[in-house]
Amino acid sequence: MVTGTSLSSVFPLGSRLNERGRLEVGGCDMIELAREYGTPAYVVAEDDLRTRARAFVQAGRDAGHGDFHVVFASKAFPCTAVLELFAQEGLWCDVASGGELYLALNAGFPAERIVLHGNAKSEAELRMALRLRVGLIAVDNFDEIERLARLTGADAGELQESGGPAKAQPVLIRVTPDVKGETHEKISTGQADSKFGFAMADAREAIARVQQVEGLSLQGLHAHIGSQLLELEPFRRAATQLAELGEFPVLDLGGGLGVQYTSEQPAPPSTEEYVSAIVQATAAHRTHPGRLMIEPGRALSANACVTLYTVESVKSNVSCWVAVDGGMSDNLRPMLYGAPYEAHVADRFDGTTSCVLAGKHCESGDVIVAEALLEDPRPGDVIVTPATGAYGYSMASNYNGVPRAPVIFCRDGDARVVVRRESFEDLNARDVV
Ligand code: LLP
Repeated sequence: MVTGTSLSSVFPLGSRLNERGRLEVGGCDMIELAREYGTPAYVVAEDDLRTRARAFVQAGRDAGHGDFHVVFASKAFPCTAVLELFAQEGLWCDVASGGELYLALNAGFPAERIVLHGNAKSEAELRMALRLRVGLIAVDNFDEIERLARLTGADAGELQESGGPAKAQPVLIRVTPDVKGETHEKISTGQADSKFGFAMADAREAIARVQQVEGLSLQGLHAHIGSQLLELEPFRRAATQLAELGEFPVLDLGGGLGVQYTSEQPAPPSTEEYVSAIVQATAAHRTHPGRLMIEPGRALSANACVTLYTVESVKSNVSCWVAVDGGMSDNLRPMLYGAPYEAHVADRFDGTTSCVLAGKHCESGDVIVAEALLEDPRPGDVIVTPATGAYGYSMASNYNGVPRAPVIFCRDGDARVVVRRESFEDLNARDVV
């Protein structure tokens, strides 16, 4: 797992064990960071995010596609500093609610580089997107087509008064292509019986209806078959299915490329393999390359981040139980999906003691790592879990009145807090009494 000072690829790029045997991320010593900013904390290696963003963009070029766009699925890490960084790198942004749209704009994404998703978009969210004239709206269902027809038709006067679209709003039709990848049932979306998108059987009708709406400009098709996928074949099958519906200027194949959560897991396909598979699979069915988009979330941010905790207690109740100061309120994934993680004492990496790394919340299921190998864990030790940069921050809660953790960016040995830790006052800040 650990050789000399180099670390496995579950850790952020550039991480290492320094001369004192302590984990360094973005050039910062994790023990010192924990001391200065407290725990739990999400620690992000800024350069890692940039490197991954650039690798995706470059992979499109290397695969020979001239109109290829990488759309960050903001739900993976909807923190302004992360969004700002990806906006600077020229990515697009996938938003799935008015709140995510607000965050993306606020972080500097121009509206034309935003894709609005959602299977239950409200009228207010659609109005907001139309007023801003976002790059694309991925239309999910017939009710939404009707609503959009009304909003861009009879109600368009009002929209234009508020600076809305004089021209037609570009849209995609979201299709559920009846393709199932190998992943957790809760994050599988491409099967026929799904809450997302039009069934293949309805897609032609949806296309025809959108084409009749004057205020909409049909650009193409979208499919997102699921998340944490470790094989490329389902993506190829999705491309084939979409091709059944005809050729359009834009194809958006969604996100879904899986990542490595523990050093023992096999490596997922590389960015280059994934992008080139998608470029080839779509090109095979098109006479003109058109525009190709993908929407990675996890693959851009998961491995750029580690979470720091402090051990509060160690006990022996049949198993060795190591309890830390966070848990399901900062990382719900183990509980929700049985997702595996690994853990280390931040300054004693070669762990051999088998323990349960438990969270502090009042639920037996609040376990971060069921079988952690830790080196002589003691109260006060700083524990690190890598690969926490996707869906940890976004699914965080205040369960048990635990203030949500800060996000700290590290780069070249400098740390800066980009999201502060919540305070107790934040916990009742919304009370109306
Ligand atoms: N595009 C669309 C339309 C999506 O719904 C999603 C994720 C993505 C892109 C990005 O997928 P990714 O590349 O990150 O796999 N909370 C779950 C993941 C839910 C994903 C929902 N949609 C988890 O923690 O695993």
